[in-house]
Amino acid sequence: MARYNPVELILKKRDGYCLDESEVSFFIKGFLDGTIADYQMSALLMSCFFQGLNLTETKAFTKSYIESGESLQFDPSLPVADKHSTGGVGDKISIMLAPIAAALGLYVPMISGRGLGHTGGTLDKLETIPGFQTAYEMQELYDLVMKHGYALVGQSDALVPADKRIYALRDVTATVENPGLITASIMSKKIAEGAKYLVIDLKVGSGAFMPNLTRAQELAQSLVETGRSFGQKVRVIFTNMNSPLGRAVGNAIETAEAIEYLKGNYLPDTYAITTKLVSQMLLMAGMYSDESQAVTAIDEVVANGKALAKFEEIIIAQNGDPRVLDDYSLLGTAKYEIPVKAPASGWIAQIDSRAIGYALVRIKAGRMKVTDSLDAGAGAYLERKIGDEVREGEVIGTILSNDERAGQAAASAVADAYKISPEPAPAQEIILGMYP
Ligand code: URA
Repeated sequence: MARYNPVELILKKRDGYCLDESEVSFFIKGFLDGTIADYQMSALLMSCFFQGLNLTETKAFTKSYIESGESLQFDPSLPVADKHSTGGVGDKISIMLAPIAAALGLYVPMISGRGLGHTGGTLDKLETIPGFQTAYEMQELYDLVMKHGYALVGQSDALVPADKRIYALRDVTATVENPGLITASIMSKKIAEGAKYLVIDLKVGSGAFMPNLTRAQELAQSLVETGRSFGQKVRVIFTNMNSPLGRAVGNAIETAEAIEYLKGNYLPDTYAITTKLVSQMLLMAGMYSDESQAVTAIDEVVANGKALAKFEEIIIAQNGDPRVLDDYSLLGTAKYEIPVKAPASGWIAQIDSRAIGYALVRIKAGRMKVTDSLDAGAGAYLERKIGDEVREGEVIGTILSNDERAGQAAASAVADAYKISPEPAPAQEIILGMYP
């Protein structure tokens, strides 16, 4: 491999020139083998953050990330598809989407992450199921997917280790929100896991790291183009994260809400997103040619219990306790229920989802550091959405907490997250658009 001087490469990027594939590969390999120091990688990341990455550089980062670990190879004739969400508050979509997709014949190697900061993580929700195992080697993930049509696991050390190390640095050097770096991070994992079709739920709004559609569209283009250059078909759905999703926010209660969904008890926003994402997976994989047919098929596997049976099958396969399907108290409970009251009369004009996510960290429904412990039973039921009319003092939600004082503080912080307008405020669209 060509030898370069790391300082010269940092300088080159810092001054606005582009790095080629061999330079990117040299830097990432050097960082992983310890010949390039953390502070040099941090300096390169900050240069990338300010100068931006063009498509060639983004692909080079993605390729080096993939090459740092193992990749899965499924039989090319199989419809292997996955979904990625850029993260939000109350986002339990994966838990419904994967069994529905598998019940319809897709193969879904679903690798999820943990919650951090204001956003929750699917892995934390799944781990409220007693015994449910999420740590699997890549070969074991492959075997689960081939046997059950899907799996719900965490990221093994062998899946894109470069991203794991570099993401940890980005997190503490304020270099996360860059489209090229985000693309390499997301796409390397989704390409290495062997998905041929990928649908991305790109959240936009107050609870997301993309504040508006313009920024989100730039990221979408980078994700789609990068996927295409690795032979993957990618479709991005822009969804509204100005309001937490569904009714429950918290690990046990979100898992319970997902189970209720699989029993056919839908909520409008989670139904809209789940159905849109699964139907796009089916269309991309060529299993349906028409969206309304795909939606009918999705509705059917929920109505006839096949999706719920698929969920039960994976709970058993991954050593979880299937009794949770009928007894939600096994997922986690909370001693205290504290009402959240509307701070004024009027119409809900805005909800600061990010502030709600942070408020719930106080009761351990979320974490600030990866090492923080969680309380599975903690969370909040949020009963009202943007556009709803409320009266001052009316109960608009409930905090579930095992710590009464922290629960009270969370209740007032959640109430503060609602902006009430004296004028009627319009309800918001959930699906904001699609690319391409
Ligand atoms: N999610 C990821 O996996 N990586 C990023 O860089 C941002 C969000």
